[in-house]
Amino acid sequence: MKYRKLGNTNEQLSAIGLGTMGMNHAYGVPDDKESLATLNLAIDLGINFWDTADIYAKGENEKLVSQVLVPNRDKIFIATKFGFRWDDNRTRSFDASPAYMKTAVEQSLKRLRIDHIDLYYAHRVDPNVPIEETVGAMAELVKEGKVRYLGLSEASAASIKKAHAVHPIAALQSEYSLLTRDPEAEILPLTKELGISFIPFSPLARGLVTNTLDISTLGDDDFRRTLPRYQEQYAENNRKLAEGFAALAGAKNVTPAQIALAWVLSQGENIIPIPGTKKTKYLRENAGAVDVDLTQGDLQTIDELLKKYPDTGARYTAEHEKLANN
Ligand SMILES: NC(=O)c1ccc[n+]([C@@H]2O[C@H](COP(=O)([O-])OP(=O)(O)OC[C@H]3O[C@@H](n4cnc5c(N)ncnc54)[C@H](OP(=O)(O)O)[C@@H]3O)[C@@H](O)[C@H]2O)c1
Repeated sequence: MKYRKLGNTNEQLSAIGLGTMGMNHAYGVPDDKESLATLNLAIDLGINFWDTADIYAKGENEKLVSQVLVPNRDKIFIATKFGFRWDDNRTRSFDASPAYMKTAVEQSLKRLRIDHIDLYYAHRVDPNVPIEETVGAMAELVKEGKVRYLGLSEASAASIKKAHAVHPIAALQSEYSLLTRDPEAEILPLTKELGISFIPFSPLARGLVTNTLDISTLGDDDFRRTLPRYQEQYAENNRKLAEGFAALAGAKNVTPAQIALAWVLSQGENIIPIPGTKKTKYLRENAGAVDVDLTQGDLQTIDELLKKYPDTGARYTAEHEKLANN
């Protein structure tokens, strides 16, 4: 494994992290045995940067992760998030108020069975709470020793600047992949300028760029079914694109997932992607992406493919976008 620094700290995080969301939330059928094997393999591979959230599987994701985290606490840098809440076990709302955060952090610590969280994110910026108040309350958690570093997810440039003025923001987690390039305009340059790590979520476009995902096989409750990009309308464009990435990968004797992750890594030294998987096979493959070098010719081929097949579809619905980039 190769390592990259977290923000302006001396923390060494694996250049490929592990997103645990899909182990029992949003994608496919959970397989706890394989997920636990994947978490254990991550330790063997030196993948020390793990990403969960309180909302994933209504807390069950944190509990699953804790089974491997607790006996290996000193080897893992654990990140979790707060803000989305289930009001009556059915209705989801967003709340990044200091009052809600105080209960959320205690619940995360309890489910994870640890006494401090390494990186605590506000899952979104709450349009109803000034960001200074949210981050001010998060900074109190640092003082209390419950949290070591602070992060934001899908925050606008204005919010990042305001938050960073209250307390150093170590990491900004937003969607970034071959298919989602929005952060390049403003957010990526800002994180580089402020010394903030940029953590791409869904760096494999939720599986779409791996040339293994057949959207017609997604289960009825698979979250991707609700997102524009995974609709039949874009299937042919995205299949051809994935096949193009696969051809490039084949020529380099690597896999399309490795091309996608190597591309993300090549966009800046402050970038640490957290591909998600519940499978040991995929985890090994993703770890190997740190050794894939993309030449100028490869990058050009990738750009040409993206230009040739531009109709990829939006990442989110308008409803989802409302909470992003506040
Ligand atoms: N901050 C936020 O709002 C936010 C939003 C979304 C996600 N996240 C975080 O980011 C993490 C990663 O994002 P993600 O899971 O949405 O998407 P992703 O990493 O882009 O893709 C995950 C999908 O790709 C598949 N996959 C993984 N490695 C593969 C490989 N080598 N070859 C073929 N397929 C492969 C997985 O399959 P299997 O499931 O079968 O292994 C899964 O279906 C999440 O786990 C979560 O921690 C954060």
